[in-house]
Amino acid sequence: MKKRLIVGITGATGAVYGVEILKALRELADWETHLVLSDAGALNVWHELKMKRKEVEALAGVAYQPKDIAAAISSGSYLTEGMVIAPCSMKTLAAIAHAHADDLLARAADVVLKERRRLVLLPRETPLNLAHLRNMVAATEMGAVVFPPVPAFYALPKSIDEIVAHTVARVLDLFAIHSPRLARWQGMKETRPERD
Ligand SMILES: Cc1cc2nc3c(=O)[nH]c(=O)nc-3n(C[C@H](O)[C@H](O)[C@H](O)COP(=O)(O)O)c2cc1C
Repeated sequence: MKKRLIVGITGATGAVYGVEILKALRELADWETHLVLSDAGALNVWHELKMKRKEVEALAGVAYQPKDIAAAISSGSYLTEGMVIAPCSMKTLAAIAHAHADDLLARAADVVLKERRRLVLLPRETPLNLAHLRNMVAATEMGAVVFPPVPAFYALPKSIDEIVAHTVARVLDLFAIHSPRLARWQGMKETRPERD
């Protein structure tokens, strides 16, 4: 049986992260993606990537409608390795933090938490208000991994694509999917500047 990863894409900016996660997992024969693209997520995918809902759904093994609360991933008896939400809006973060499972995204995340499976959230907002911060704390206390998609400048990226690829690879590391393409830090090799 293939390993199943639920991929949520919400209406925060950074649709490219979710899309690139789907593309990376498509290359792996032993993984199957289960996509929930929120309506606001679909808007942003169009705005930022000029991709239609159907095109994003075609990248996934299975795609669900965000209101399909009876979907397989709504139940803990349906086995998955966990879920990543990339990007994760403050609204969906709030729903998860308060177990307010009124759409499939929030319900699937709720199930992943209650079954003690891995939930990785890529929340994106700036600056953050106190509710955002408290909701991240609550999600962390419940076992989620809060992974803001902040560029890793130490990797000396030369393009936006490289920034995104680094984040995607580090997210997949959290599901024990280790990319041979990720340049892993081996210590600072070059000579360090002299002290004045
Ligand atoms: C262009 C655009 C960019 C947005 N960026 C963000 C963002 O970075 N973070 C965020 O929390 N919400 C952002 N929003 C607002 C969310 O889309 C909105 O709160 C929505 O209700 C989230 O719903 P969802 O979580 O079901 O996708 C943005 C909306 C638009 C139209």
